[in-house]
Amino acid sequence: MAERLTEILAQIAEQRERFYAELAQAGDGRNLDQVRVRFLGRKAPLAQYFDLIPKVAPEERRLLGKTLNEVRAELTEALEKRRQELSAAHAPEEEIDYTLPGLAPFVGKRHPVLQAMDRIKEIFYGMGFTVEEGPEIEDDYHNFEALNVPPDHPSRDLQDTFYLDGEFLLRTHTSPVQIRTMERYQPPIRMIAPGRCYRKDTPDATHSPVFHQVEGLCVDEGVTFADLKGVVETFAKRLFGPEVRIRFRPSFFPFTEPSAEYDFSCMMCGGKGCRVCKGTGWLEISGAGMVDPAVFRFVGYDPERYTGYAFGMGVERIAMLMYQVDDIRLFYDNDVRFLQQF
Ligand code: PHE
Repeated sequence: MAERLTEILAQIAEQRERFYAELAQAGDGRNLDQVRVRFLGRKAPLAQYFDLIPKVAPEERRLLGKTLNEVRAELTEALEKRRQELSAAHAPEEEIDYTLPGLAPFVGKRHPVLQAMDRIKEIFYGMGFTVEEGPEIEDDYHNFEALNVPPDHPSRDLQDTFYLDGEFLLRTHTSPVQIRTMERYQPPIRMIAPGRCYRKDTPDATHSPVFHQVEGLCVDEGVTFADLKGVVETFAKRLFGPEVRIRFRPSFFPFTEPSAEYDFSCMMCGGKGCRVCKGTGWLEISGAGMVDPAVFRFVGYDPERYTGYAFGMGVERIAMLMYQVDDIRLFYDNDVRFLQQF
């Protein structure tokens, strides 16, 4: 048996030599794995020598076992050391190609309709208006009745209004915020109310069942239609430049008297007439007028003492003019290629 042990120890020593020779040759992680499998794997000679331990003479077992354990620990450590050397040599900074274009993080943008809304707000802040808000789920009283729209009025028609259970509906305009503001405060009032509105409209190039308006309301003693015109004209010029002209056409709204529609001269053609203004030279913005005394009575203001003007505007329409967009649906398709342009 003693001779056999000497022979085994010689073989272990030889394995150890060969291991170091191959280790020196290993140039990358894959080579290292091959060396590990060949010398330390389950089928490697070393593992087989472990199997011999119980078979050698009892007094020789200790030496064989100790030698094997030491060699195995030594080779494992050498392998690990070499692995670290190799990965240090291939440090990441040497593998990065700094000439490649980077991965830019995706940066979102404010939606063009909200950008238009911000610009509108900014201009009215500058003229001393406050900003008020009202609910999108509105009650019949604020959306219609207190605005002097009686129950049989055509604008309550199921065709253009989303009704909810009970007396509620999705507000069809921002005008109910006029009522809510007057219920809350006494004059003087000078406010705008930006917000989302809903109508049962079939989508086309200029209609969307969800859209945005900015309402305006000014109430005080001695407020006149001239104040309304002055504010609308100042707004138009701040938004589109000094060349823009405004015009008012007689119209009707139950909550204003007299009522008007107001237009801006077409900034695409300067008023000469083009495709955008359909040859008229004018672009319709929205309605306006002097607050009807009946509305003041609903909110408990004295119509003998106070007068006021109100106006609306479609934010999408303004955004279409600001950004020269010819189809309102583009704002809601959420195509990032479109939205990123603004
Ligand atoms: N609320 C009206 C509409 O949506 C616009 C309007 C606002 C008219 C204020 C007069 C005064 O058409």
